[in-house]
Amino acid sequence: MTIPIKNKDGIARMREACAIAATVLDQIKPLVRPGITTQDLEEAGRDWIARLGARSACIGYQHGSRRYPAHTCISVNDEVVHGIPSLRRVLREGDIVSLDIVVWHDGYVGDNAYTVPVGPISPANEKLLRVTRESLDFGIKQALVGNRIGDISAAIQQYVEANGFSVVRDMVGHGVGVSMHEPPEIPNFGRRGSGDKIKPGMTLAIEPMVNAGGYKTKTLSDGWTIVTADGSPSAHFEHTVLTTERGPEILTIPRSPSAVPVTF
Ligand code: MF3
Ligand code: CO
Repeated sequence: MTIPIKNKDGIARMREACAIAATVLDQIKPLVRPGITTQDLEEAGRDWIARLGARSACIGYQHGSRRYPAHTCISVNDEVVHGIPSLRRVLREGDIVSLDIVVWHDGYVGDNAYTVPVGPISPANEKLLRVTRESLDFGIKQALVGNRIGDISAAIQQYVEANGFSVVRDMVGHGVGVSMHEPPEIPNFGRRGSGDKIKPGMTLAIEPMVNAGGYKTKTLSDGWTIVTADGSPSAHFEHTVLTTERGPEILTIPRSPSAVPVTF
């Protein structure tokens, strides 16, 4: 499958969708504190998506015969991704919570994620969050025209494993544009120099998922929630990036909500 290249118009629309996704994430991050439920974060995310004139790309997303039931994905501690928000899931001091926001706007999708500490967390979890966030930066730096997708993968894997953590293999980053998942797949592990060549105008969702323990995962009986097989904590950071001759440009940068058209 060939990797879609966005033209000027597509890039402008991607900018808007990504700015909205980032603004929603930016608005819900500070709500994280002990005592709130993941459903509270879902409702805040849902409301911000609507206020900014977008739609969730998660709700109704079909995988096999199942449709994802919420507007956001909220994954706590050993949950890697695709945690379903719940009134019963109360956040406690020391937890880590991954917020994944994917929106549709004007025919294009913006995708981003961030893992937030709930109050003070253990030094081990502090390191997990820091290393995962930094691994995303190292991956993005490799999204250079003339490089290959494997250069992104290898940079992430190398940094994560050098710090004693493991990268999830069962889920990967991806191209993003007129649908949530487009070619190419962007694994967080792999070999430098492998995979497709990077050209200008690609929009890539780069998203390391990093486990404190082993890389293996399993799916809970809800059919969605991915957890670490060994129960170790997991972190997830994601940006949508545009490739250009001048280097990678992160599109998922929040705007002040007053600078984004608000729909009442
Ligand atoms: N960012 C996630 C992904 O790229 C969003 C999944 S939405 C869900 O897979 F509906 F599948 F949960
Ligand atoms: Co994604």
